[in-house]
Amino acid sequence: MTTHPTLTDGLLAPEPLERADTIPSAWYTDAFFHAFDQHAVFASTWQYAGAASRLTTPGDYLTATVGRSSAIVVQQQSGTPQAFYNVCKHRGGPLAMDACGSSRMLQCKYHGWTYRLDGSLRGVPRFNRTELFDKRDFGLTPLETSDWEGLLFVRAEGGGPALSSAMKGIAERIHPMRLTDMRFYQRITYDIACNWKVYVDNFLEGYHLPLVHPELCDAIDYSGYVTETAAHYSLQHSPMLGASAYGNAQSAGGNAWYYFVFPNFMMNILPGRMQTNIVLPLAPDRCRVLFDYYYPAEEMRDDPDGLAVRAGADHDFSHRVQLEDIEICEFVQRGLESPAYDRGRFSAETEAGVHHFQDLLKAAYRSRLSRHGQ
Ligand code: FES
Ligand SMILES: [Fe+2]
Repeated sequence: MTTHPTLTDGLLAPEPLERADTIPSAWYTDAFFHAFDQHAVFASTWQYAGAASRLTTPGDYLTATVGRSSAIVVQQQSGTPQAFYNVCKHRGGPLAMDACGSSRMLQCKYHGWTYRLDGSLRGVPRFNRTELFDKRDFGLTPLETSDWEGLLFVRAEGGGPALSSAMKGIAERIHPMRLTDMRFYQRITYDIACNWKVYVDNFLEGYHLPLVHPELCDAIDYSGYVTETAAHYSLQHSPMLGASAYGNAQSAGGNAWYYFVFPNFMMNILPGRMQTNIVLPLAPDRCRVLFDYYYPAEEMRDDPDGLAVRAGADHDFSHRVQLEDIEICEFVQRGLESPAYDRGRFSAETEAGVHHFQDLLKAAYRSRLSRHGQ
């Protein structure tokens, strides 16, 4: 791999929050980093795929993104999910082109090769005259697959922490709320004209709330807004004031928990509601953010009409906040591309989460460079 002039020991070194500069603008804008992030960051970290409860029967599947690749998570005959690259071994076609579905076997959408649910190659049409071909050499490539509190994650390269250690402490902290009681409700997709790191930085501080989100600011007790950091994630939390903001009477007086798990996964948890966000790089200056909404299984079963009203209000409010974030993030991307900017500084009072993310990013870059040489 070639390197980049900004990957110096000085710029990669961790610095204390009070003295640190922000990362160089090239890390958000240069095409080199779009490719480098795939190897240094996304290949070796757990990537959210979806709700485990969506896979109930053998053959149920979800598709997900791992770096630049598509993955398919398939419920096995044994009842556990297993992920594979969503890539046929004939000429690279897809086994699934949709977000989810169910099938007794996996069939490539290009020429129709079929695979068993365990990834072994089963049927190969019109191959009678092909010589020296052994189906056992053409099974699907598996990915590491793990479940945490009913959420499925996949990883391309091992070596990093187990999913349970990356998430250590979260389930205990949000008790008595239990994520395993929540069920997937809907997915909303946003395409944004900014680098994925701009979106993550923006998520990680409440500094911008008064100017960018005045309505959200009124819904929470901003004076009680706190940021904490752990090894692989950070947490921002704040007491909720009103009941109306998320259409959620249960939220009044409760806590809003905003978790970020390195490198690109967020959980926005309120009483009776969870929303996950996964940030997927599309290009140096474009990303896609998937919002998955979860609500209590009991409410989904017992009061679907009431839940539809509540979920509608929740979505409307989140959508307004998201449009405010998109507008500012797209401006920031253009700012980072301008010759007027390279590196800034952090508010030590409010930007500990951004600094923590950027430190983990530098560590991931250092680790990649030390393993593969500069
Ligand atoms: S690429 Fe899959 S059958 Fe041809
Ligand atoms: Fe925001």
